[in-house]
Amino acid sequence: MSARRRQAAALTLLLLVGASPAAVAQAPAQAASTPAGNELQEGEQRFRPVWSARGIVAAQEPLAAAAGAGILRAGGNAVDAAVATAFALAVTLPQAGNLGGGGFLLLWLPGPSPAAARGCLPGTRPGGPGGDSPERRLGGGTAVAVNFRETAPQAATPTMFLRADGTVDRARATRSLLSTGVPGSVAGLTLAQRCYGRLPLARVMAPALRLAEAGFPVSRELSDSLTAAAPLLAADPASRQLFLPPPPPGRLLRQPALAATLRRIAARGERGFYEGPVADALVARMARGGGLIRPRDLRAYRARLVAPLQGRFRGHPVLGMPPPGGGLTLLQILGILEPFALAATGLNAAATLHPMAEAMNLAYRDRNALLGDPDQVAIPVDRLLSPAYLGSLRRRIDGRRHTSPQQVEAAAAAEGTNTTHLSVADRQGGLVALTTTLNFAYGNGITVPGMGFLLNNEMDDFSARPGSANAFGLRQGQANAIAPGRRPLSSMAPTLVFRPDGRPWIATGSPGGSRIITTVLQVLLNRLVHGLNLAGAVAAPRMHSQLWPDRIDLEEGFSPDSRRLLEAMGHTLRTAPAMGAANSVEVLEAGGGSLGASDPRRAEAPAVPE
Ligand code: GLY
Repeated sequence: MSARRRQAAALTLLLLVGASPAAVAQAPAQAASTPAGNELQEGEQRFRPVWSARGIVAAQEPLAAAAGAGILRAGGNAVDAAVATAFALAVTLPQAGNLGGGGFLLLWLPGPSPAAARGCLPGTRPGGPGGDSPERRLGGGTAVAVNFRETAPQAATPTMFLRADGTVDRARATRSLLSTGVPGSVAGLTLAQRCYGRLPLARVMAPALRLAEAGFPVSRELSDSLTAAAPLLAADPASRQLFLPPPPPGRLLRQPALAATLRRIAARGERGFYEGPVADALVARMARGGGLIRPRDLRAYRARLVAPLQGRFRGHPVLGMPPPGGGLTLLQILGILEPFALAATGLNAAATLHPMAEAMNLAYRDRNALLGDPDQVAIPVDRLLSPAYLGSLRRRIDGRRHTSPQQVEAAAAAEGTNTTHLSVADRQGGLVALTTTLNFAYGNGITVPGMGFLLNNEMDDFSARPGSANAFGLRQGQANAIAPGRRPLSSMAPTLVFRPDGRPWIATGSPGGSRIITTVLQVLLNRLVHGLNLAGAVAAPRMHSQLWPDRIDLEEGFSPDSRRLLEAMGHTLRTAPAMGAANSVEVLEAGGGSLGASDPRRAEAPAVPE
């Protein structure tokens, strides 16, 4: 189809959408699966993913990705490689890779699961609907999620960030030791590795240890990032000593204290972190600086194996991270958009962007009002994902006009470069999507003295006062109020997509705070609906809407025509800085190897083949 005919088709569809939103909402999915972008074969498109005959690692920093690829070569599976990459990122990408933060991991491995035989599933029956195991059987393999989100310390209270006049003390919520949740990363990574990995933990951690001990040349990105964070880091003596003055690009950064901490973990597993000298140093720093984490908080912390959420989009099974992760909101948006003829209206056209923004707003309303830690808050997951409910949301989209947040709420109620996502495919088709964070870049900027790692400020992901905006502008509700032991709501959304017959296909995810969910959404729409190859799907310009604030954020690259049409429908637009870093991998058919695409927005090098 020529550009002109495509434009005409888009306009016709825009009129159609305007004339009868319900008609478009019910347009057969078939009509939508004639992707305008498919005129070019994948190999002819502007961006090229990296190919590997075997496995591949896509991450935000090349030395860490190479660490994971090396573990694949050494016989490790996707879990070993993901864990190796994550520990290496704690060394080479200190703004987001971490030991003092938390995250989520989603995995699929072929064949029978090794977890029960390793004592990882005590008292559960085999997985599948109705079983009480967290594992799900799909496409001849096993899928499971690992929840290693931080928890609120036992001494936390719902009002701990409020001033006497009831307003939120943003500095206390983000830059003090009170902002730190009990770290989950070490528990989560070691749990995943013990239950699903193939190699010994010490082998998997060896590259990270080497990078910390011998040092690595500072990249331009790290040097710039440390320069930008210097005011934050300068406020803490241990961070100052470690990172300031910011080393210039190419200077070797050695981190002997971090190496000693990694060595303890490699030798003792999670107990090397949650007990002994590391725990003692963390608790002592808390006690000295007014923080709340005590030995009992560290001893009580558990990473969890949980069942992934399963949905379907255009015939493809999609696995997402259940609350407190972002998978439910992602599956809601996909479900609302399913019947829209987005391929025909076209990538980046106003007629495509409008229903996307409205669907995002509807799903974020539910997120704000209803979601929290499922261990402490009842969440009607089945109802929120039911076709009937998603259909009722879809019918609320006016094809002609933007619906204001007030109207959306009346009808029914975050971060930037600070998180990091990695995806791995191994040569057997095993997939891992892993997102981890300190919340802000460098968390609260406070390093545990003598241990060489930074602390998160994830407590700001709770609603400090229901309805007030957090750092990402999210106005969350009572369901996400602070409570002891509770995990704050997160947007992190590691995601796995399968071929219609259940075989593994894509692993993706992203940093970006509240923009994570919509970034992942667009990678999926670009690949599944618009026919872009993996690299193009990751690189294409992104938009974002989250109900509040009432606006669409657009990266550079959207046409003035689309912008004008959106404004005419009542949308407020903002040109936004780059959103997300959706490092993604894809398994090719019939032993054809794998593809990887690190996001050109943030990664300084492409994916690393095995
Ligand atoms: N720290 C941001 C998030 O988890 O959504």
